Amino acid sequence: MTAENRLLEKLNPSQREAVAYCDGPLLVLAGAGSGKTRVLAHKIAYLVARGDSRPEDILAVTFTNKAASEMKERVEALLGETGAGMQVCTFHSFGLRMLFRNRDLLPRFGLGERFAIFDRADSRSLVKEIMEGLNIDTKQFEPSSMLDRISRVKNDCLPPGRDSPLLEGIYGDVFRAYEEALRRQSAVDFDDLLLLPLRLLQEDGELLERERKRLSWILVDEYQDVNKPQYLTLKKLVGKGGRIMVVGDPDQSIYG
Ligand SMILES: Nc1ncnc2c1ncn2[C@@H]1O[C@H](COP(=O)(O)OP(=O)(O)OP(=O)(O)O)[C@@H](O)[C@H]1O
Ligand SMILES: [Mg+2]
Repeated sequence: MTAENRLLEKLNPSQREAVAYCDGPLLVLAGAGSGKTRVLAHKIAYLVARGDSRPEDILAVTFTNKAASEMKERVEALLGETGAGMQVCTFHSFGLRMLFRNRDLLPRFGLGERFAIFDRADSRSLVKEIMEGLNIDTKQFEPSSMLDRISRVKNDCLPPGRDSPLLEGIYGDVFRAYEEALRRQSAVDFDDLLLLPLRLLQEDGELLERERKRLSWILVDEYQDVNKPQYLTLKKLVGKGGRIMVVGDPDQSIYG
């Protein structure tokens, strides 16, 4: 029996169908604990076993580091050493790696080639500092809800020139000061780890081609949780080939 068939044998009929279908994009919706992650892990192993993808050309994205290492373990259990090179990571670490690979382009965003990453606590302190500088009462306006608003606006990905209704008055002042302060310190926040790679893909055709060439297949777990920039990034990276498979459970959506 071929290695591919051995992999398919370990699945139930609908799981098998999802793994063996490789002719275009595939969205798998199934309930909790039904074997979605198992299907993704087998799909990766299947693509490698068929010989049409090298493990390092396969990108599997998840939302948490825990899910990424679990996925890695599952694939390595199926493929052994062969599976070691694949890109299994979170959306954020994928974004970080893309920024790092293209760091010579970062000055376009007002960043240096070396940049710091602000976590949520760093971002919150920065917002608080800015609010104090603008004489905004941080008892009346919570810095963390201000940061949530900033984050929402960033992730709405409005076209340039279109102002968000969420940024009226002081909100806009804090927002702009926050973005400027980050860049002045050559820093990015967690949202930027998704948004700046997306902008690179949108604004630079050569880079887009290069990034697409690195990927033969894209697999996404917990697809019900993708936000707008993540969705747009996947759409950019997939290109015409349509070699993407996503699995999710609409009932577990964090957006309700
Ligand atoms: N065909 C199968 N044969 C043997 N075990 C299976 C099969 N399908 C699923 N399982 C087992 O069921 C359990 C749940 O599978 P898995 O984690 O892949 O589900 P999931 O749909 O990703 O769950 P969640 O909704 O929590 O993300 C695992 O222990 C997995 O190995
Ligand atoms: Mg799962």
